[in-house]
Amino acid sequence: MSEKSWKQIRKSEMIPLVKPFMPPRDVLMPALENILYSGYIAEGEAVYQFEDTFRQYVDNPYCLAVNSGTAALHLAYLLENIKAGDEIISTPMTAEPTNTTIAVTGAKVVWGDVDPNNGLLDPKSVRNLITEKTKAIVLVHYAGMVCDMDEFNQLSKEYNIPVIEDAAHALGSKYRNKMTGLGNNNTIFSFQAIKHMTTVDGGILALTNGTDMERARKLRWFGLDKKKSRLENDITEAGYKYGMNNVNAAIGNVQMRYLDSIINTHISNGKYYDAELKDMSGIELPNYSNHTEPSYWLYTMKVERREDFIKMMESNGVTASTLHHRNDTHSVFKPSERELPNMETFYNSFVHIPCGWWVTEEDRERIAALIKKGW
Ligand SMILES: Cc1ncc(COP(=O)(O)O)c(C=O)c1O
Repeated sequence: MSEKSWKQIRKSEMIPLVKPFMPPRDVLMPALENILYSGYIAEGEAVYQFEDTFRQYVDNPYCLAVNSGTAALHLAYLLENIKAGDEIISTPMTAEPTNTTIAVTGAKVVWGDVDPNNGLLDPKSVRNLITEKTKAIVLVHYAGMVCDMDEFNQLSKEYNIPVIEDAAHALGSKYRNKMTGLGNNNTIFSFQAIKHMTTVDGGILALTNGTDMERARKLRWFGLDKKKSRLENDITEAGYKYGMNNVNAAIGNVQMRYLDSIINTHISNGKYYDAELKDMSGIELPNYSNHTEPSYWLYTMKVERREDFIKMMESNGVTASTLHHRNDTHSVFKPSERELPNMETFYNSFVHIPCGWWVTEEDRERIAALIKKGW
């Protein structure tokens, strides 16, 4: 067998770090075909049904479906009237859209430092960065771990600064026994290909304020009010083409039936690693914030000699990776540059291992045993 085909086979046998879940063909396809040939594939009933089911799932008063988590983030910043000259305190430990959407508003990103143990934005660092220009704090519940919401809610109240929650990784995670983001006005979720739940692409902006919801609904569609005819419409604030369509929503409506079982498997695998890998030398497990329950989109830990760890895992058929690139090193964020010693510490040794719905009990036992053998 050639080296190339052997490598391909090995690759296909690898346990991946991320994997899109699709409902069984015989369940999904009829629902999808129904929409595709219905004569109405744009934003319509399937989208409104998806919004309603999701709203009940997270138990939030208003949920607006959009075509990506990025669109939801941009709308969240617009609702807070963020503009050039403003500052938003954010984290570099995230996927780029958290911060590129700030940049497109013209506002300046101010980097908070992270907790060196878990990589989540550190409220103590944020407190020191607040100025009269600070118009929002954006929190990323990275890899499904929830930020220290007790502290951030306190900061938000004390300085009267809104908190925007980027929960793209954190569907199904909890804060004080309720779904993360519940009760906060501006929380976003993503249904991009590799998230807990995918609609191929899509997102939700979850709000508690009805006036904001009406504004966001118009911004989602050029600034037009869908409840009125085109001729009756008068655009007062220019908007975007950010809506979800019925095809993505049809997938989402079927996905919602499987969501509990998907998320429960992520959580069960995550808790298994928490128990199996604790107190192991060469590894530091993350501390989870008070009153929070992660939904383990990825399992996160710090390891000594990371390159050797990744090599050992990969040679045993398990993908291990860092997945994300710290955002503050992009040229576009050069004006925001500052020293972030804890970010440095976390970034140099964190790694993710597979823990999603595709990881079987046998897989996770094998993964834990491999790690225990050392690298
Ligand atoms: C933390 C975070 N925020 C926002 C996004 C943007 O979501 P989307 O890809 O749906 O636009 C992503 C995903 O790519 C993400 O990982």
